[in-house]
Parts: sequence; C-alpha cells; structure tokens
Amino acid sequence: MNSLLSTRSMRLLSTGGRYAFQQRLLVTRTPSTTLYREYYATMVQKSTEAGVSTNQTLSNADTYIMKAYARPEVVLSHGKGSYVYDTEGKEYIDFTAGIAVVALGHANPEVTAVLADQATKLVHCSNLYHNEWAPKLAQDIVTATMEAYPQGKQGIYAKGSDGTSGARVFFTNSGTEANEGALKFARKYGKHVAAAGSLGKGTSEALRADPNLKCGIVSFTGGFHGRSMGALSVTANPKYQKPFTPLIPGVQTAKFNSTNELGAFIDERTCAVIVEPMQGEGGIHSAHVEFLQTLRRRCDQVGALLIYDEIQCGLGRTGKLWAHQCYPEDCSPDIVTMAKPLANGIPIGAIMVSDKVSSIMNVGDHGTTFGGNPLACRVGCTVLSHIRDPEFLSHVDAAGKALEQELLQALSSFIGSLVVEVRGTGLLRGIQFSSDPSKLVDLARDRGLLLVAAAGNTIRLVPPLNTSIADIKKGATIIAECVKELASEWK
Ligand SMILES: Cc1ncc(COP(=O)(O)O)c(C=O)c1O
Repeated sequence: MNSLLSTRSMRLLSTGGRYAFQQRLLVTRTPSTTLYREYYATMVQKSTEAGVSTNQTLSNADTYIMKAYARPEVVLSHGKGSYVYDTEGKEYIDFTAGIAVVALGHANPEVTAVLADQATKLVHCSNLYHNEWAPKLAQDIVTATMEAYPQGKQGIYAKGSDGTSGARVFFTNSGTEANEGALKFARKYGKHVAAAGSLGKGTSEALRADPNLKCGIVSFTGGFHGRSMGALSVTANPKYQKPFTPLIPGVQTAKFNSTNELGAFIDERTCAVIVEPMQGEGGIHSAHVEFLQTLRRRCDQVGALLIYDEIQCGLGRTGKLWAHQCYPEDCSPDIVTMAKPLANGIPIGAIMVSDKVSSIMNVGDHGTTFGGNPLACRVGCTVLSHIRDPEFLSHVDAAGKALEQELLQALSSFIGSLVVEVRGTGLLRGIQFSSDPSKLVDLARDRGLLLVAAAGNTIRLVPPLNTSIADIKKGATIIAECVKELASEWK
C-alpha cells in the first residue's frame, strides 16, 4: 500500500501531515494532481479493507457493539446479485436480502454506478435547500402509484378539484421514522377535523368541546411497525414493549382479520388505524379483503385515517407495486409508509399521504436532517424505475409461484405434520412449522442458504426481487434437504 506513495507524500500523510495536506488542497485550489491522486488512492485502499481477521472482527463486535442482536459467527464481506460471501470465502444464496431490502440484488452495477456518480456531486445538503432528486423520486412514487387505479376515488387515489392526484411524499431515513411521521400526521389530522366540526351530526358534545380527544390509534395483533416510542406503541408485542413502558397513550390493539370487532375499536375518538396489509415479521399473514374493506368504511364513518405500513410488503415484493394493490380499490389507504427496498440498502423511508392529509400540514410541523438527501433519492429513482416496470413485477410473481410450487412439492410428505403451512404472495413467502425452526436456519446457513425467522415458528423467504428462477429452486431444494435432515429430531 505504501508503495503507492512518494516519500514526500508519506511525510504529509503521517500524523498531522494529513490535515496539513488537506488544508493545502483547500487553499491552493489547484492541488498537485499527483499528490491528490496518491492521497485518494491510499484512502480508497484503506477504506476497502477492514484489515482484521474474521476472529478479530467477531471479538471487536463482542467487546464494542451493544448486545442488541443474536448473530451467528459469520462476517459478510461482499455480495453479487442473490449471493453473498463471508470473510472466509464461503458463498451463500441470500433469501433474506437484508430483511426484504436489497430488491435489485447485491452490488447491482446500475445502483453502484448511480451511487458513485452522485457521491462525486452532492451527498447531502439538508432540507434547507432543494436538491434535484427528492422531487423526482416523490413524483415517481406518486405517478407509479396512481397507475393502479387511474379512476380511483378512495384515500390516496381520490382526485383533487383539478382532477389530479393531490398525493404528496415526505422523506425519512427508515421505516420506523416513516411510521412515526404517519402517526404524527394522523394526530394533527384528528385535531383538525374535530376542531373544524367536520365529523357530522353524530359528533359527541365532548369531542366538540375538546378536539384533542380525537387522538386514538388502533393497531393489530401480529403487526410490526418499528422500535421508536410511537412505532413501538403500535407494535403489540410484549417482548418488544414491556422493557420500555409506559408507551404513548391512546393506542388500542384489535385482533388482525377480526372484522366483527372493528366497530368496537374504531370510534369517533380514533384518528388513525395502522395496519400491514400483509404482515411480515408477524409470520406472513395477509389481511382478508373484507377486513380491509371494513377498515376503509369504518375510518370514513368516524373521520379517521387509514395507514398502510408497506415497509416490508410494499414496493414490488408481492408482484404488485403495493401490497394493497392486490386488493380492490375500496381497500385504499390515506397514508402509505415505505422504506426497506426503496434505495436497495441505502437508508431511506417515505410517507405518501393523500391531499386531505398534506393540506393540514404546515411548514415547520415536521422535519428531518437526512431525509430526502440526493444520494438516497437518486438511488431510489433507479430502484423504482425497475420496480414499477410490469415485466419486473411479473418476474416477481413468477418467481414467487415457482418458490411456492417447489416448496409444496419438496415438502409434501411433511405438510400437515412438521410443516403447518406454506403461504404468502410474490416473493414474500413463509413456511410455518409445528415447532421452533431456528435449527433449520442454522443448518441452511451451513449449507449455503441464508434464511430469516418470523413470529409463530415461521421462516420468512424474502430474496432479492430479481433472483433467477434457477436460484429460487436451488434455495427451495436446500430448505427441503434441511427439513428432511431435521425431521427425525423434530418429531
Ligand atoms: C412492516 C414494518 N414496519 C416497520 C419496520 C421498521 O422499519 P426500520 O427497521 O427501517 O425502521 C419494519 C422493519 O422490519 C417492518 O417490517
């Protein structure tokens, strides 16, 4: 590495020298091209190698990283398409895609080129100024969404008086932050409609007297919405919630897919209902059509917003742009939250809201430093240009069907005993087992397949969306072999 540098520049880059060198670059304005190149060559080389062994990395993790995750002793160093490689050179088919994130595969050349180009131009400028890419990505998200129901009249599909969609986007940095924002918008919306007296004749005296009472939020069993205080409060999992109580007030948990109960939970004091149309972390469970239709109707009756958390199930994973587009138009939401695959792994999230929501938000109501940065948004434009493409979506559909078929065939002798159910849509699939499948995750990894668990003894299968059918079949075969091997132990 040192051979890259002349003796003079080595001196400059030694302690203190590097700073002086950088300063010289700044003040001379026309830096010595050779020195400049040498400096960057060294820095790039340094930053591409951690320079420590696998064991040392694991030991550093053990010593310095807070113990929030249970991880196997594997250090991933790089990937290509649907494959990742560890620091010992072992290859894995990746059926996790970083938990449904890397939609276009690892080290996707187009994404890499766009990232590299944007990194040479502008990475961040905050929301003090416009950048070229956030408005473009917002436009792409809205227009791609509207293609599904061009004549739509519900929620985000409702048209303004000028006949165009008034849907708008707020960018965040993660899924949690998108949900947090959506809940805040709903709280403000609730106060607004209650104060404006626009809830109809049936509105109680109490609510008329105090619009702040319209602050209730309803979420559902099995849902996962994130770990911040608001998102955690609507994630009804005692394991996640208990250590951090008290949670935010006004949240009620209703039973997912229990349509009859909805009337009792959603009333005039409700400002929002948040639900995943297809639950990921909860074990790959899809909402029933009539459940979402009833939610939509009930929200309209009481003046509450219907929020769809599509952070895991959205953006192409089901073979449609949005999971809710697998349902009729009368299931449409007022707000959609998204994140994971939007920039193929570069952190980003977004909240898409209908005109009636965006119109009550004022300058200064909400904000973020990093959200909407040009780097993530430009990558988002590249990712979305693929995900909205009908050919890409039909590949997801075909790959999902191939996966299901392979699994059903290979696991047929276990279905009804060890295997409770194979379910899901597109490339959001789950296999529910009759007992804890964590040994299966370990065995599959040993055999070169990465899997991620979900609630209820379920394995989640969420490979990159452009995984080839051949690799889908390869992964399914490994799963079947592992089940066969573990079968006697499990019984
Ligand atoms: C449905 C859903 N909502 C929200 C989140 C939280 O997103 P993030 O981890 O990006 O904050 C997740 C993450 O798994 C998710 O699956």
